[in-house]
Amino acid sequence: ASYDMGGHDTYMHKEISEQADAVDRVLRGRIDEKFSTVHLGGLNLDAREARGIRRVKILGCGTSYHAGMIGASLIEGLARIPADAEPASEFRYRNPVVDPDTLYIAVSQSGETYDVLAAVQELKRKGARVLGVVNVVGSAIAREADGGVYVHAGPEVCVVSTKCFTNTVVAFALLALHLGRIRDLSVADGKRIIEGLRKLPEQIQEILEGEEDIKKLAAEYADAKSMMFIGRVRGYPVALEASLKLKEISYIHAEAYPASELKHGPLALIEPAMPTVAIVPSDGLLEKNRAAMEEIKARSGRILAVAHQAQEKADHTIIVPKNEDELDPILMGIPLQLLAYHTALALGRDIDKPRNLAKSVTVE
Ligand code: G6P
Repeated sequence: ASYDMGGHDTYMHKEISEQADAVDRVLRGRIDEKFSTVHLGGLNLDAREARGIRRVKILGCGTSYHAGMIGASLIEGLARIPADAEPASEFRYRNPVVDPDTLYIAVSQSGETYDVLAAVQELKRKGARVLGVVNVVGSAIAREADGGVYVHAGPEVCVVSTKCFTNTVVAFALLALHLGRIRDLSVADGKRIIEGLRKLPEQIQEILEGEEDIKKLAAEYADAKSMMFIGRVRGYPVALEASLKLKEISYIHAEAYPASELKHGPLALIEPAMPTVAIVPSDGLLEKNRAAMEEIKARSGRILAVAHQAQEKADHTIIVPKNEDELDPILMGIPLQLLAYHTALALGRDIDKPRNLAKSVTVE
């Protein structure tokens, strides 16, 4: 692996820019056109075992936890298996019921994060089946797991994760499709998702070409002391990850809320000095999200929407290409990586090595 910056000023910028190729890699050789499914060679889970899964529990930390949240919604949506994600350390310390019909999935870029590794070891000691969704081949978590899916994002150097987040979510889409096609997902739906997956690299490139506009928006919002990120259902983990990215590298305080929870408290914070980034896909929840933007406007809040079409309630809209509803979160996060990047750059931050943070936390 080469650690050359390849003409970019930071590793983060290089890694953001590499995402179309990275997604191409995670898909390569795995799609089965004939049966509208995918092959995942390292899964170690036969069809009968896959049918016996009653629940899926996904464990990770930081950005990998957020990728796992989207993974859970993909698995629940496509394979119709109840699924959720939880921070690995929380899971470990609450003495969870370990259930033989639950499939546990550990998510980690490095494969070395102590909290995740310790959760995997505890699960294995109790006889659970644990898969890994891991980037670094041969890492501790990959070795400890019973099987899994490699993310193939390539080396990620910047402390904050970008291309690996995107690839991890795509790896979960592959796993969800695979489990779905063993269970009740139809051939037609399998085809629909495969076509959506194939479109991703080109659509990612299209988003990246909008960088100059996003840079201008970053200049516009960089004076904020604090920012709110909202999304609903599939959009909520996108909001969480975008807010994490912004605080990690720009040190601007940010919080993420489900759009529907605004009225139960955080609406009190909305005023011109606290802008909101709203994730607004054109799906069945579009009208609900528009109503939330209206609430914010009524309190004189500034809004930057990430959407599939211009949003008149928003002060600015970043338009991203539409994919299948299930796959939209993969694309909607990408412009917000660039927004965090250009905000941090405008503020003169040390982007690849933010203060107080480490690329992988291998101690408790
Ligand atoms: C650290 C990094 C985060 C990362 C988290 C999990 O806290 O600063 O960017 O998301 O670890 O890392 P992993 O390698 O397990 O995905």
